[in-house]
Amino acid sequence: MRCVRLLPFDGMRAGVNRLSFHPTLKRELQASEWHFREARRVAIPSIKETSMLKTILLGLSAGAIGLALLLPCYAAAPVKIASVAPVADLVAEAEAKIKSLGDALADDKSYLEGKKTTIPTEAGVLAILAQAVVESDEAAAWKPAAADVRDGAIAIATSKSYDDAKKGLEAVKKAHGGSAAGAKPDHEWNKLCGLGSIMKEVNKRNGKLRRGSKLKALDDTQAAEFSRDASVLAVLALAAHEDTHEVKKKEEVPEWQKFSKEFQTQMTAASAAFKKKDVAAAADAFKKGNTACNDCHAKFREKE
Ligand code: HEC
Repeated sequence: MRCVRLLPFDGMRAGVNRLSFHPTLKRELQASEWHFREARRVAIPSIKETSMLKTILLGLSAGAIGLALLLPCYAAAPVKIASVAPVADLVAEAEAKIKSLGDALADDKSYLEGKKTTIPTEAGVLAILAQAVVESDEAAAWKPAAADVRDGAIAIATSKSYDDAKKGLEAVKKAHGGSAAGAKPDHEWNKLCGLGSIMKEVNKRNGKLRRGSKLKALDDTQAAEFSRDASVLAVLALAAHEDTHEVKKKEEVPEWQKFSKEFQTQMTAASAAFKKKDVAAAADAFKKGNTACNDCHAKFREKE
């Protein structure tokens, strides 16, 4: 995890300088005996002042600690992307999302229909896939502009009007065409897509894999498609790993992250197995991955 936090060293140093060069104090130190007696009279408010300064400094540092907690902590994905999913799978699935967003934003009517449902999910998942492309060690055609794809996708997901959504889609298309607009590569993984949207996508692809893992044999198209689905699930698990807002007790965060990690590991394994058309191994990994879904839901999902 990479964290950028500011601490108030400058503010503190300024305060300390004021203390050591306080003119009243300086004069007192240089005073004669008479001046010294006189100085004691002056020194009382100056001592008061010193303790006041201490209080201010204390307040400053307490405030700064509070501020540091609020400041963004740029969290990279918790693992190496290339060890979670091949970049080619992520690129292909991101492109499918761009196409489906094009359909969803075809006109005002389709936008209004999908605004609260499919659009935030499609766009949010695209943001996650684009961020994974940004952080992958593997090369991809539009990787240099992948951060711009991500930002365009977030703009679509959070758009309040058809025009805004279309602007977001234009930005996505431009970036996908290879022209970078200077978006920062860093992005917090818990701010790419809402957890509810992640789960909807997880559920859809998981259902497909359940049917796939029951087939006796796979053709080339099925093997490639199921493999890509499992890769997407593995990357969605990374985003769920970082989005711990549903965990009400801080000490239970490791448990949440254990379930997400297990889900990711099994989906990465399922992807490799589907690719090799090893249905038995894929079915085994799929089953283990689904134990993590159920365990996590039993522990953390609000009962309806
Ligand atoms: C790390 C914990 C965790 C894992 C792993 C997990 N879930 Fe969830 N899931 C949740 C939580 C928490 C919610 C409720 C979130 C919400 O509604 O915003 C949820 C909600 C859902 C929903 C309801 C979504 C909606 O709003 O319509 C579905 C469906 C779902 N999960 C399916 C799955 C499936 C299938 C898997 C595994 C393949 C899975 N989940 C793995 C924690 C998890």
